[in-house]
Amino acid sequence: MNEIRIITVDGPSGSGKGTLAQRLAAHLKWHFLDSGAIYRVLGLMVDRVDISVDSVGKIAELARSMPLSFDGERALLSGEDVTGEIRTETAGNQASKVAAIPEVRTALLAWQRDYAKPPGLVADGRDMGTVVFPQAQLKIFLTASPEERAKRRYKQLKEKGLGVNLAGLIEEIRERDERDSQRTAAPLKAAEDALTLDSTQLSIDEVFSQVVGKVHETFPDLSGI
Ligand code: DC
Repeated sequence: MNEIRIITVDGPSGSGKGTLAQRLAAHLKWHFLDSGAIYRVLGLMVDRVDISVDSVGKIAELARSMPLSFDGERALLSGEDVTGEIRTETAGNQASKVAAIPEVRTALLAWQRDYAKPPGLVADGRDMGTVVFPQAQLKIFLTASPEERAKRRYKQLKEKGLGVNLAGLIEEIRERDERDSQRTAAPLKAAEDALTLDSTQLSIDEVFSQVVGKVHETFPDLSGI
C-alpha cells in the first residue's frame, strides 16, 4: 500500500475527539494534526492586530502568512508559546468565527495536507474526513450530548481553578455547534463513510479501545500494536 495512512477524528467540541486523536497518534507513533489549534491561533492574531471578524480579505491574508509552528503540543506564534492563551472559551469562539470564512479555509488547506507523512497521520478537527483528507482510510465522527460536553468542560476548567457557570457553558457550546454546523464552508458533519460514535455514556478508555479495534480491522498489519 503506497498511500499514506490517515485516520480522521471529527466532531463537536467537548466530544473527546482531541484526547482520542492525540492518544491514537501516540499509540501508533504517527503524526498528529490538531487543526482546531490553527484556527485558534488565527483567531488570536485577529484579536491582537485588532481587525474586525468581518474583514474577510485581511483575515485570509493573515491565514496565508501566519508565523505558526508546533513543537509537540506547544503552539508557537513567531516563537512565542501561545498554548495556554488559545485554550480559553473566548479563543474557541473566536476560532469558530474566523473558521466560517471560506477564503481562510482554502488558505489553510495545503498547510494541513502537508502533515500527511509516513508512517501515518491522525488528524483532529471538524472537516478532516469530509474536506481536508477525503481519502482517509479510517474516519471517526465522535459526538456526545451538549449537556455532557459542557459538564466535561466545566470539570476541566474547575480543575484549572477557573470559575465557570455550567448553564452558560451549555449555551456557548450550543452556539458554537450551531455556527460550526450551519456554515456553508466545510460545515461540521460526519463523512458518509465515517464511523459515528456517541461518547455520552462512554469513558475515554472505552472509546479508545473501540477505535483501536477499528484501526486493526482497517490496517491488519498493525494488529500487534
Ligand atoms: O477543535 P477546537 O475546539 O479546538 O476548534 C476550535 C474552532 O475551530 C471550532 O469551533 C471550529 C473551528 N475548526 C474548524 O472550523 N475546522 C477544523 N478542522 C477545526 C476547528
